[in-house]
Amino acid sequence: MCHGIAGDGRGPAARWLDAPPRDFTRGEYKFRTTPLGALPTDNDLMKTLSRGIAGSQMPSYEGRLSYRERAALIGYIKGFSKRFSDPGEQCTAERRCDSGFTCMSGRCVLYIPPVQRASSATVSQGRVLYSKLGCVECHGADGRGDGPPRAS
Ligand code: HEC
Repeated sequence: MCHGIAGDGRGPAARWLDAPPRDFTRGEYKFRTTPLGALPTDNDLMKTLSRGIAGSQMPSYEGRLSYRERAALIGYIKGFSKRFSDPGEQCTAERRCDSGFTCMSGRCVLYIPPVQRASSATVSQGRVLYSKLGCVECHGADGRGDGPPRAS
């Protein structure tokens, strides 16, 4: 009804929508963890399909469809654009990603560095900060959320 049988965003209901439904044949997507103009990852598409898009008529399908069904739909809609099967769109050992991105399953995705591994030294440092920064006042000395009420 919205995206159209051909996936071109021209379904019968499309003309009544404020934001036009995405034309899948163009292979252009807004909601991505990939660089500007790049294709989204399957996870990006899963997020949009699952959550919907606030402020638009694109609904959330999380409660209505199983994960498998949503994954099946993602496989199908990618077929509307040739970009997804173009090897030129893939990052490789030779075709690297810009800084700030890392190559994952052939796509450049935002690189989020892992949190530093805890050691007894960092935990002791955390204990000091927990008290010094006032976390203890709300979360409590044993982390039970029963800190003393703040003197104001
Ligand atoms: C003024 C009170 C207050 C202080 C100070 C405070 N917190 Fe919190 N913290 C809260 C409240 C309220 C929540 C949200 C509880 C909720 O949403 O149910 C929260 C949530 C959190 C969460 C998220 C828990 C979750 O469910 O995901 C973390 C982690 C956290 N605080 C850590 C800290 C740390 C570390 C500090 C100190 C640097 C700190 N907080 C200082 C009141 C406080």
